[in-house]
Amino acid sequence: MSSRLLATPSLAGPALTELQARFPGLQLAPFRSPAWHAALPEAEALVVVLSEPLTEADLAAAPRLKVIGTYSVGVNHLPVAACQARGIAVANTPGVLTDATADLALALLLALTRRLAEGEALVRSGTWRGWAPDQLLGTGLAGKDCGILGSGPIGLAFARRVQALGMTPLFWSRDGRGGLVDFGTGRAPRLPLADLLPRSAVLSLHCPLTEQTRGLLDRAALEQLPAGAAVINTARGGILDENAAIDLLESGHLGGVGLDVYDGEPQIQPRWLTAPRTVLLPHLGSATVETREAMARQLCDGLAAALG
Ligand code: DGY
Repeated sequence: MSSRLLATPSLAGPALTELQARFPGLQLAPFRSPAWHAALPEAEALVVVLSEPLTEADLAAAPRLKVIGTYSVGVNHLPVAACQARGIAVANTPGVLTDATADLALALLLALTRRLAEGEALVRSGTWRGWAPDQLLGTGLAGKDCGILGSGPIGLAFARRVQALGMTPLFWSRDGRGGLVDFGTGRAPRLPLADLLPRSAVLSLHCPLTEQTRGLLDRAALEQLPAGAAVINTARGGILDENAAIDLLESGHLGGVGLDVYDGEPQIQPRWLTAPRTVLLPHLGSATVETREAMARQLCDGLAAALG
């Protein structure tokens, strides 16, 4: 049946290639176009990307729906509780983008603390006059503590990376557990936020956006970080209070902010564009060829399993 699996053209690239190869009846319609709405009543599978939020009303319009697929590990754009209540499976891509996302968080951390964007701009400007003892001095990382919000696979992978830089990882997790986290190449304490924040020269976000984590890093939390701390967000924009972060950058309390994700992306709070000591990326966490191919295979496996 041609309308059995409904996807959007935003999936261009490996996901679309894999979907077309494995689901010959695939129907493509732009998200929320008349054709997309018209196909909902017959759809057994709906596939979207993370910038295409689905609602409970969409589920109500799709009575035959068996599975929602998303080309992401994050599911904050999906009505997950309503899916569970109706027995609709959710096919996402956990696991395969762990290293790519942790690598990108590390790239942001190094770009920020070693002022790579400013250095590159200086060379490209043609005004560089050569090595100077006080030129673009950054901040060293070895010997400092790195707070990691989230002890899932990406948080653990990031801990291994910062440990290799000589930093000490500290974890916070949503379930409030204490004890030690085994991150593969070492063990690190899981602390309450109030204990972790004042110690974190670097704070990196690796938890999903849920009702519990929305606004978790608000002004009061950011103010608990030590002066000069760097904040890295490759998770979801809504976890960080962006206005508070910009205020604290401008006041000098925060040493820098590196972002790959934004609240309400692709719209970006205009204050980011002029905020000091920032590195801003366009949601590149999983953007490697290998990762996107693996995500495509995993997504299609999940859809096939649910469709039976
Ligand atoms: C995801 O898959 O949720 C990531 O944010 C993509 O980079």
